[in-house]
Amino acid sequence: MSDNQATLTIDGKTIDLPVKSGTIGPDVLDIRKLYGQSGKFTYDPGFTSTASCDSAITYIDGDEGVLLHRGYPIGQLAEHSSFMEVSYLLLNGELPNQDELANFTRTITRHTMVHEQLTKFYSGFRRDAHPMAVMCGVVGALSAFYHDSTDIADPQNRTISSHRLIAKIPTIAAMAYKYSVGQPFLYPRNDLSYTGNFLRMTFGVPAEEYEVIPEVERAMDRIFILHADHEQNASTSTVRLAGSSGANPFACIAAGIACLWGPAHGGANEAALNMLREIGTPDKIPHYIERAKDKNDPFRLMGFGHRVYKNYDPRATVMQKTVREVFDALKVNDPLFETALRLEEIALNDPYFIEKKLFPNVDFYSGIILSAIGFPTTMFTVLFALARTVGWVAQWNEMISDPGQKIGRPRQLYTGPTQRDYIPLDQR
Ligand code: ACO
Repeated sequence: MSDNQATLTIDGKTIDLPVKSGTIGPDVLDIRKLYGQSGKFTYDPGFTSTASCDSAITYIDGDEGVLLHRGYPIGQLAEHSSFMEVSYLLLNGELPNQDELANFTRTITRHTMVHEQLTKFYSGFRRDAHPMAVMCGVVGALSAFYHDSTDIADPQNRTISSHRLIAKIPTIAAMAYKYSVGQPFLYPRNDLSYTGNFLRMTFGVPAEEYEVIPEVERAMDRIFILHADHEQNASTSTVRLAGSSGANPFACIAAGIACLWGPAHGGANEAALNMLREIGTPDKIPHYIERAKDKNDPFRLMGFGHRVYKNYDPRATVMQKTVREVFDALKVNDPLFETALRLEEIALNDPYFIEKKLFPNVDFYSGIILSAIGFPTTMFTVLFALARTVGWVAQWNEMISDPGQKIGRPRQLYTGPTQRDYIPLDQR
């Protein structure tokens, strides 16, 4: 840590603010004592300039389009690693050796079943409920089933809860899908990989054997890797904020799922594919580009732009490559891919998008792949939640084990009425 200081002058008084440095990335001004010294808060709606915590998990350089998990570039992990290995890395800080990976995979596999009583929750939902609504409810309900592991002060309890969440979320997600299509739930099978098991629980039926297509399994696993963590984004910050009060981890992850659902965050993959379907053919693209640029039109190019990336999202690069692999494996060719490629090309050459540094994000191509694999659009954000659970859990664990951790409690700039006296109802 550097011991630089920044100096701030407020009302003629000089205040020294420590400047803290991480291993890479911008330095931060430590303003924790600012209010005590000046009586002033900082003002940063949307937290665009605020570092909310120390973290050693994920690093993003949005200007350069860099994403590192524990120092490893996302492109290398997507190419060479597996979701189980990346999960171990995010949770433990180092890549596992063969024994560690085998043990971790075995542990996760042994936790994939959910309490039988939990399956009853689904029948309380309408069949046409959005699966993210079902996920919020069912994941939150886990705290009622696994109360034995919710003593968050105990590291062993935290590890068990983390494993349960990572292991059970594919089962819960697959059940949400099965319920929506009126098919029976399938129990997990321990001889399959994490991702193969999820595909079978989603698309298999009891009437016949389900054959996992290796290329699809690999593509799905890679999509999970690409979504596994992303630093202090809205849903991760939600998990941390919920967890900062000491809430149990299942409730915290349910809060993260609720936040992820929004179209400006995880819901963008669903919105991006719906948008591509609406655009349809490349000849309609100029019309939609004009709409996206029109300040009086709420339409935005979904899957474009990012709070942090002001360059090509490195995950979008891998995603675009994966589209072709899945098409080849399944022998399909969705014309929307051509529309997406053309849309990207036109947008990246348009002064509006160049000037605002709007590039495709991870969601731009993911919908095309997921749709080819057979997922309905409503499941897209569920898949994101499934993969992001490991990131949420890793960030939650990091926060709880930090001895300096405090409850998250932002302040405000109050703009309401000043103090006034209550007027009895009959006098108003
Ligand atoms: N289409 C058209 N214009 C856009 C877009 C877009 N997709 N994104 C941003 N802009 C414009 C805004 O209108 C704004 O213009 P202005 O400066 O003239 O007012 C400028 O670019 C900056 O946009 P903000 O919304 O202020 O940037 P912010 O960092 O708050 O938002 C966000 C980032 C929410 C991702 C935004 O780019 C967006 O809405 N994109 C579409 C939704 C999307 O793809 N979300 C997925 C994000 S990735 C993820 O969550 C996994």
